[in-house]
Amino acid sequence: MAETKATLSIDGKVIADLPIHSGSAGLDVIDIRTLGSHGYFTYDPGFLATASCESAITYIDGDKGILQHRGYAIDDLAKKADYLEVCYILLNGQAPTLEQYDEFKATINNHTMVHEKLVHFFHGFLPDAHPMAMVCAVVGALSSFYHSDLDIDDPKQRMRSAHRLIAKMPTIAAMSYKYSIGQPFVYPRNDLSYAENFLHMMFSVPAEKYIVNPTIAKAMDRIFTLHADHEQNASTSTVRLAGSSGANPYACIAAGVASLWGPAHGGANEACLTMLEEIGTVDRIAEFVAKAKDKNDPFRLMGFGHRVYKNFDPRATVMRETCHDVLKELNIQDPLLDIAMELERIALEDEYFVSKKLYPNVDFYSGIILKAIGIPSSMFTVIFAMSRTVGWISHWDEMLSQPGQKIGRPRQKYTGEIDREFVPLKVK
Ligand code: CMC
Repeated sequence: MAETKATLSIDGKVIADLPIHSGSAGLDVIDIRTLGSHGYFTYDPGFLATASCESAITYIDGDKGILQHRGYAIDDLAKKADYLEVCYILLNGQAPTLEQYDEFKATINNHTMVHEKLVHFFHGFLPDAHPMAMVCAVVGALSSFYHSDLDIDDPKQRMRSAHRLIAKMPTIAAMSYKYSIGQPFVYPRNDLSYAENFLHMMFSVPAEKYIVNPTIAKAMDRIFTLHADHEQNASTSTVRLAGSSGANPYACIAAGVASLWGPAHGGANEACLTMLEEIGTVDRIAEFVAKAKDKNDPFRLMGFGHRVYKNFDPRATVMRETCHDVLKELNIQDPLLDIAMELERIALEDEYFVSKKLYPNVDFYSGIILKAIGIPSSMFTVIFAMSRTVGWISHWDEMLSQPGQKIGRPRQKYTGEIDREFVPLKVK
């Protein structure tokens, strides 16, 4: 069958015939790689219509509310698999057998501790340092422990880096919390599940026995699963771009952590809680909703809206269920949670939000769950980063395994001065 082409013509003159490629699902893409040789670049700030790579990891159809990892629907994974199974799927391409799962779990457990020298890094931070700043720096510092003998062209070594990162992120995340509240670091326990171990490192103290609440552990595991990967979002694209130069994987993940931090991305869950605190009481919601609708006011309802999901976020649907379960089970009375529930009700009915398809997103509900569990809002984005690490490293591994991979290097539309005469200072 003849290859389908897109003809680019300008003022009626044909400039180029560009090949069109189809993936296994989703929109076809026009291959514009040769366009530069015809005298044009494309202009797409914010990557609104640009596919930056070929990937077989995650598929999203934002209009239909579909999210699949390696072909498995997210709600199935959230309800029927645990986070480590999802990690295995993302990294290896298919669901594990029981034997493979046990082996994977043992491998991850084998790497949960961090080098004692890494622990010292924390002591250089001020006690009120934001945990994301600590995690970003300490993950980047891991590159100094695993660099000179790391061959990123060897698939086995790439996989070992992935295992180390998945295993060590909870340890580093919990250490950032313990440091910020002045409690001793708690070492990992490999007899616990991934989620239980994280809660243990966060909440146990040497003086007392800590028993993990199974409802909380289940909710935590679901939060990890629902954040595990999300295709070519800002932080994943950052990791790919950093990795495209052949940089150390731990440094690439630190770049991903930095990119995730902003309130338009992973920082939305913390920003959402800050917003709820600012609203303060249910009777002030209308005032804030009015501000969010006012075109002249930059205020936005944090935790609402999404770049790709314009009908519903399938992660939010599952997270909403978990959120209501957790609030019921823990029977927590918190005015902030009342504000959140009322805000959800209003936004789902209000014409402005409905017509612009601005629904509560996954971070709205995960923020509420984490708050109910007793995790401070400054840790919310850290938990997102820890969950997303598997996605980042899966994309990094996929990119390096593809033949002919090129360094990422976008073009620009230049709007600055040109051809100016430079007059040396002494002449002026
Ligand atoms: N509150 C009020 N109005 C909003 C909001 C909001 N949260 N989000 C978008 N709008 C309006 C916006 O003003 C614009 O209106 P108009 O068409 O009249 O100019 C319209 O909706 C489209 O907005 P946009 O900024 O063009 O949409 P986008 O796709 O570029 O942005 C977004 C998506 C997530 C950055 C944005 O909805 C937002 O800032 N939301 C709040 C932050 C947030 O919750 N982010 C977490 C995203 S989920 C986690 C993740 O995957 O990283």
